[in-house]
Amino acid sequence: GMTPKIAPSMLSSDFANLASEAQRMLHFGADWLHMDIMICFLSFLPFPSISCRHFVPNLTIGAPVIESLRKHTKAYLDCHLMVTNPLDYVEPLAKAGASGFTFHVETSKDNWKELIQRIKSHGMIPGVALKPGTPVGEVYPLVEAENPVEMVLVMTVEPGFGGQKFMAETMDKVRILRKKYPSLDIEVDGGLGPSTIDVAASAGANCIVAGSSVFGAPEPAQVISLLRSSVEK
Ligand code: DX5
Ligand code: ZN
Repeated sequence: GMTPKIAPSMLSSDFANLASEAQRMLHFGADWLHMDIMICFLSFLPFPSISCRHFVPNLTIGAPVIESLRKHTKAYLDCHLMVTNPLDYVEPLAKAGASGFTFHVETSKDNWKELIQRIKSHGMIPGVALKPGTPVGEVYPLVEAENPVEMVLVMTVEPGFGGQKFMAETMDKVRILRKKYPSLDIEVDGGLGPSTIDVAASAGANCIVAGSSVFGAPEPAQVISLLRSSVEK
């Protein structure tokens, strides 16, 4: 099968101790660190009537935090951009030391070719993400392009918050992608843990983001190793 990449979502970590939280997860066997970058993601919020101006502009983390964390680890920083204009963050995140740059297909309908090109020319690995309601076909052109994305992230919850319930209906998209693209990295994000990993792994996901199930466990190393062995099965 595909190589598993287990990526604890640092959104569930103690932000005041980000470096030690990251090192702890790597020590527990994490392959990647998943960094959720959300800034005023208007159309992605479950309350579309609430104006962005009512929120502080930086809801989670941004390039300055990636830059600080990079000084403490060489790990692959798997950045998940939940922003309305990802192109604006390519250069700052590359300079900060991001490794992967995954943008949402819904935000980049007109400029994805330029975006992929810029991500690669800045030395990062491009990925594309799909919200639960977005049809899987929207990513085919990006996977099949001359200059393609290297990962598809299938959201298994509505983006915005950790600790939500896994949406099993999103697995159809994973199955379709795995059948169509046998060697593509397929990431799942949201509600993954010991009780949901088998359905995701057997559908074909190999990159597994897990926030609350890892950080909330008494022994995170056991959860990480269980996630890995399920992908390897
Ligand atoms: C949600 C984020 C996820 C989140 C996952 O918008 O993209 O990465 O942190 O958290 P859990 O694993 O708790 O669902
Ligand atoms: Zn994420």
